[in-house]
Amino acid sequence: MHPSVDHEAFDRAARFLRPAKKVAALTGAGISAESGLATFRGAGGLWEGQRVEDVATPRAFQRDPVLVWRFYNLRRANLAAVKPNPGHHALVELEKRLDNNFTLVTQNVDGLHQSAGSHNVLEIHGAIRRVRCSGCDLVADRGVDALPELPRCETCGELLRPDVVWFEEALPEDIWGRAVEAVEACDCFLVIGTSAVVYPAAGLIDVARLTGADVIEINLEPSAASARANVVLLGPSGTTLPELVKRVW
Ligand code: OAD
Repeated sequence: MHPSVDHEAFDRAARFLRPAKKVAALTGAGISAESGLATFRGAGGLWEGQRVEDVATPRAFQRDPVLVWRFYNLRRANLAAVKPNPGHHALVELEKRLDNNFTLVTQNVDGLHQSAGSHNVLEIHGAIRRVRCSGCDLVADRGVDALPELPRCETCGELLRPDVVWFEEALPEDIWGRAVEAVEACDCFLVIGTSAVVYPAAGLIDVARLTGADVIEINLEPSAASARANVVLLGPSGTTLPELVKRVW
């Protein structure tokens, strides 16, 4: 590890994680940064070069579906070249060590947790590989191959849309309910690579605090979650997560 590593913080985090019977984690775009995917906020972030309201709202899709699909097809194409990194793999290890008493709640739509081998994953913001029909109830996995400029449903002919949650839309009720339950039940909650400014996802940190779980944050820099964490491990998750897992087991 880097010589400036904060051993005291790692020891504290390990003391929270070691005795926990149930653990939950919330991940954000930061965990996939070391795989080569851009985060949303900050320099070089996806929302820097693109106005959210042009590509990630229901109104944007009604107004200009070609522009919206161009944005998502580019992001889908980026997935073809990326692989999970040691941060994703450390969470697979955690799931194994905890004998499945581990729930991974992710805001990411990139599917990298599943590619790494995590099983109990709740995708609260949807999945970019999936499409869903705006006319009927079709939902289908279309992988990362290029789709037509305006893909249509083979069943009803209506426009397909990415199966992701846009701004101004509600989260999938069932998946969100399961995420809240898992966080309410956990003794230790990991908050990894998220700016924690988008709600209701960031509200899971308050749920964890209210039910008495210890909160460990892992981030490159302090975030909106930091004041609510019992311990903050600063550094890239591809290094800090494997190190934490190593110290616990
Ligand atoms: P953000 O881009 O808001 O935040 C990314 C966070 O990851 C920041 O706090 C960075 O400091 C941190 N980070 C970057 N690289 C890291 C690394 N290698 N290791 C650890 N941390 C790192 O992304 P999210 O918090 O995921 O929603 O954004 C939340 C939601 O806003 C997204 O799900 C998306 C977006 O709009 C929807 O599309 C509905």
